[in-house]
Amino acid sequence: MGQEQDLALLIKSGTPLIVIETEEELRAIELFRHALSQALRPLYQWSITSGLKRLDIDVAEFGAAPADPKDILRQVAGNAEPSIYLLLDFHPYLKDPQTTRKLREISLGHFGVEHTVVLISPTLDLPDELKGHAALMELHLPSSEALDQMVREEAFDWSRRNAGQRVKISRKALGLLIQNLRGLTLQDARQLARSAIFNDGAITSQDVRRVMEEKFGLLNRGGVLSYEYELVGFDDIAGLVTMKKWISDRRPVFLSDDNPYGLDPPKGVLLLGVQGCGKSMAAKAVASGFGVPLLRLDFGAIYNKYHGETEKNLRQSLNSAEVMEPCVLWVDEIEKGLSVSDSDSGTSKRVLGTLLTWMAERNSKVFLVATANDIESLPPELVRKGRFDEIFFVDLPKPQVRSKIFEIHLQKRKQDPAEFDLEQLTLHSDGFSGAEIEQAVVAGLYSAMADGESLSTEDLVESLRSTRPLSVVMAERIAYLRDWARPRTVNAD
Ligand SMILES: Nc1ncnc2c1ncn2[C@@H]1O[C@H](COP(=O)(O)OP(=O)(O)OP(=O)(O)O)[C@@H](O)[C@H]1O
Ligand SMILES: [Mg+2]
Repeated sequence: MGQEQDLALLIKSGTPLIVIETEEELRAIELFRHALSQALRPLYQWSITSGLKRLDIDVAEFGAAPADPKDILRQVAGNAEPSIYLLLDFHPYLKDPQTTRKLREISLGHFGVEHTVVLISPTLDLPDELKGHAALMELHLPSSEALDQMVREEAFDWSRRNAGQRVKISRKALGLLIQNLRGLTLQDARQLARSAIFNDGAITSQDVRRVMEEKFGLLNRGGVLSYEYELVGFDDIAGLVTMKKWISDRRPVFLSDDNPYGLDPPKGVLLLGVQGCGKSMAAKAVASGFGVPLLRLDFGAIYNKYHGETEKNLRQSLNSAEVMEPCVLWVDEIEKGLSVSDSDSGTSKRVLGTLLTWMAERNSKVFLVATANDIESLPPELVRKGRFDEIFFVDLPKPQVRSKIFEIHLQKRKQDPAEFDLEQLTLHSDGFSGAEIEQAVVAGLYSAMADGESLSTEDLVESLRSTRPLSVVMAERIAYLRDWARPRTVNAD
């Protein structure tokens, strides 16, 4: 609604030239039809194929509609009644000096009448001499109501084609579908809604998931974000109890539109910790804990792929993530993308600035999960209080967590944990990370297989004994990390 009023105001205030860059020509035209109920001027439309037409009232077609772009401007100049002209795909003709001059004369009021000329094209480079006269307008993306209306139209269309059968719609799925279509143009949204309905005459939760994936495909044409399909459930991770509870507690506020307690919606966490202890896994679990899609931002690719356009690409990726809201945005090994080196002439500083600004200003439901191993290369600005809601430290697993990790990974490989001495295994895996425990299970299974026997506790103990865990190899680093983390972070366990 607001946009129609803006437009009416632009017209009334005598703006001579309006530029609308859009793929959605029909929507732009529709907007003018509505705005006109307030502007009360004749409305014309012109294109090279169908010439000039009057849109606001039904009149017989003009005799010889001027298809020549110069003729149409001559006609505008000669019209004594202030009018609005929508010129569709006029951009190729702006290369002609006579055409741009004529447009400028019309804009300057040389002919004594205040017309509004509107250029509607998918993309348009306005010549410098016209820039001063023009107002640029972007079409607002469709509202939830408009999307709801559109989905109903598509459902109606399906019914009509299927002998009046009704589309089976689950209320919940419909609500989610509409939420997921937000941020797309009406055209793109319609295409997705249509394929969701037409595949089976129903709107189900499966459709919602597919629409999310397709929407992501439409948005992420550059390809620095990836959509993670395989999530990890809370039950697939041993330990990290505090972090899991933190997420569960915040889920209702994160997902609610009208936050009844006035709590700030959660914005993000940093997971810091020892290699192989489940940070990446935890990031995936956050998305499943919130029940929203997970997008992964590859910082490395931002640098490599678009040399020199790093910040722009970061900004675009962040925008795409916002369109996908509610979602979790995962930046793995964030320190690798931000560690300031002398060689990149300040790029990483600017990237950090872009990220910090976004973190501070965004209002969208994009929950940021960043993971990091190396605190030394982590910029201090990033870990300052208030940037993240919480910094969790993911340490080497405690005994009962190790026991659970054995259970999970034995089960995953079709072994019955009850047949193993978990106490022994826990004892022998002191100082092992989750990843190393998993490796021990895998190695044990291989050697049991080679001997033609089934896996035993002894095989596993053997495999643990033959490994020097990171906690031994990197004892100093881990001690340093823990010292750093103690006063600054919350233990995730
Ligand atoms: N708490 C855990 N519960 C179950 N499995 C675990 C746990 N921690 C680690 N693992 C196993 O170890 C593997 C590696 O963990 P993950 O990649 O999440 O660690 P990370 O902390 O991100 O390590 P890195 O610092 O190397 O990126 C996981 O895929 C999982 O199989
Ligand atoms: Mg990781």
